[in-house]
Amino acid sequence: MNRATFLDELALQRPVVQAGMAGGVDRGELAGAVSAAGGLGTVGMMGVSAFAQALADARRRAGARPVAANLLVPFIRRGHVERAADDAALTVLHGGISRRWTSALRQRGARVLITVGTREQAIRAIAAGANGLVVQGIEAGGHLVGTEPVTSALPRILEVAGELPVLAAGGVAEAADVRRLLDLGAVAAIAGTRFLLTEESAAHPQYKRRVMGSQQTLATQLFGLGWPLLHRVVPNQATERWCARSELGPVYARLLARASAPIGRLAPLEAMGSLAAWQRPALPLFSPALPLAGMPDSAVERTALYAGETARRLQDIIPAEEAVLRLTP
Ligand SMILES: Cc1cc2nc3c(=O)[nH]c(=O)nc-3n(C[C@H](O)[C@H](O)[C@H](O)COP(=O)(O)O)c2cc1C
Repeated sequence: MNRATFLDELALQRPVVQAGMAGGVDRGELAGAVSAAGGLGTVGMMGVSAFAQALADARRRAGARPVAANLLVPFIRRGHVERAADDAALTVLHGGISRRWTSALRQRGARVLITVGTREQAIRAIAAGANGLVVQGIEAGGHLVGTEPVTSALPRILEVAGELPVLAAGGVAEAADVRRLLDLGAVAAIAGTRFLLTEESAAHPQYKRRVMGSQQTLATQLFGLGWPLLHRVVPNQATERWCARSELGPVYARLLARASAPIGRLAPLEAMGSLAAWQRPALPLFSPALPLAGMPDSAVERTALYAGETARRLQDIIPAEEAVLRLTP
């Protein structure tokens, strides 16, 4: 893949990509609507069979347009690789730089982008065989691999990326944000929170309401059981109780999160969702699961409300097609 031809190669009409959001937020309905609108919709990671169904559904809704897949490295199974390589025009990896999974995807013909936040990570991702990079800034919602704002990280990473396409994520709420990232050299901009706040997203309605116009986000490790990577959320009862002294959460909860990482990798991804039903705001044992439509309202107080700093600027829930149009410079 080449920087100059990225949009043409994927036949994208707009340099706007919907971020993969694992756990069931972006199934076929959201990803398909974004792609049908001329952007690139992404199906986020779920258990293999739900992921396969969502990809097929997204492709049906997208018509002839391409759809992407997103995979979280610690939780990949061979079935995810097969489905992503066969059904998605592009696969984005997040949460680790894996030569093994990158080459498994590429051997099956997939185009693979690896998410990075620093120049050092970018060099490793290219050595691992990435066809391109996603630069994620520290202001982004969800799990964070970066250490600085996207506008500082992007130029440093472009220096080492050669002709590979580089996409940028973090702080994208409107067309001017996309424009700024394109002017800095990104081939496309990625938005997560904007698409979380769409009619097609399967996030819990109360979660969407909490995110809209939220004045504060926290970068924490509180929801780290099974996956201790730093993540950005908006406050709820769980963070108010456990992140008052340190945004990261209590030290013992972080140690437990780190110790539980090998179990997280072995357990099926669906187990995280089941675990969420047992979580209580008063007990600092929180998995990375997020609240979906259909869960009880109380889930919003005891699960991770992932969102980026763009939450402050996002005031409405709109159709995904309109979100794509509003983001197009
Ligand atoms: C609800 C939510 C879930 C996310 N899940 C994933 C994920 O599964 N994989 C991934 O690569 N990034 C994930 N992200 C991060 C996005 O890829 C992207 O970096 C981020 O949304 C950009 O910041 P923004 O939300 O302010 O647009 C998630 C973000 C949010 C808000």
